[in-house]
Amino acid sequence: MYTQSLDLPGQPAERPLADASVADRQSAFDARMAEDAKIEPMDWMPDAYRKTLVRQISQHAHSEIIGMQPEGNWISRAPSLKRKAILLAKVQDEGGHGLYLYSAAETLDVSRDDLVDALHTGRAKYSSIFNYPTLTWADVGVIGWLVDGAAIMNQIPLCRCSYGPYARAMIRICKEESFHQRQGYDALLAMMRGTEAQRAMVQEAVDRWWFPVLMMFGPPDAASTNSTQTMAWGIKRISNDDLRQKFVDATVEQARILGVTLPDPGLQWNAERGHYDYSPLDWEEFWRVINGDGPCNRERLATRVKAHEDGAWVREAALAHAEKRARRTQAKAA
Ligand SMILES: [Fe+2]
Ligand SMILES: [Fe+2]
Repeated sequence: MYTQSLDLPGQPAERPLADASVADRQSAFDARMAEDAKIEPMDWMPDAYRKTLVRQISQHAHSEIIGMQPEGNWISRAPSLKRKAILLAKVQDEGGHGLYLYSAAETLDVSRDDLVDALHTGRAKYSSIFNYPTLTWADVGVIGWLVDGAAIMNQIPLCRCSYGPYARAMIRICKEESFHQRQGYDALLAMMRGTEAQRAMVQEAVDRWWFPVLMMFGPPDAASTNSTQTMAWGIKRISNDDLRQKFVDATVEQARILGVTLPDPGLQWNAERGHYDYSPLDWEEFWRVINGDGPCNRERLATRVKAHEDGAWVREAALAHAEKRARRTQAKAA
């Protein structure tokens, strides 16, 4: 995911809807929804649809950028040159995902500065999963396998999202997420074929990450207030609980091949449902972490704000260069 799509305060102001042709525009929009056609930035859209997209796409962008940190911590400590090169490429991909998604959000009449400010001041949310620490090298593999695996499950349906720029951004992102999942699984497979201590390290990491990963899909459908509308708008295609179930069903076999035990005594095949049952999740923990009180929230935000401040000179230099080029172009035209 990284798209829990939670309500948050401070959304952009309402667009005026007093125009006489709004009813016509609304009918045109509804017709496009009915035929599953894409909405593009220049098309009219209801303000609530625009706001929902701004919230979801910006939360997604923030998650990609904050998500660089847990694994970024391990770039200098990767166990081999090969693993270091793979991890560098993966973390850079996540930065790229954030940039595509900020660009997609900007097509909805919001500025990147405002979105970034909402993140830095704690008004915007990002995926709860990135507030957990990466204690060992096995965590890096487990993030690839499980966190990116869950992200793929969540993001594949977004390639068919009704908003064109978001859907198109997701196509490339999903291809890269697939590499992320495979590199994580490959790193864990190498450790599981190694020493007893390495196998224990993988199992310990799986034990810590399994339940937080299941919470990445967001609150249960019964408690997910936004879902019905976002599904009617073709933004969300599959419900939180259905995505979570798909993920559990797909991951059990991968865990068996890897040789690790998923830490849930309630995890068992239900022949009647044709799915795996699993134990209830600790939603109190989820809300605590998403609302700022997880193991690493303060550290993640402080690191992000510092990186932004340290990068001020790059933005200033880029602006000065762009102004100089514009002046040169004007002078040539004169
Ligand atoms: Fe990503
Ligand atoms: Fe990823």
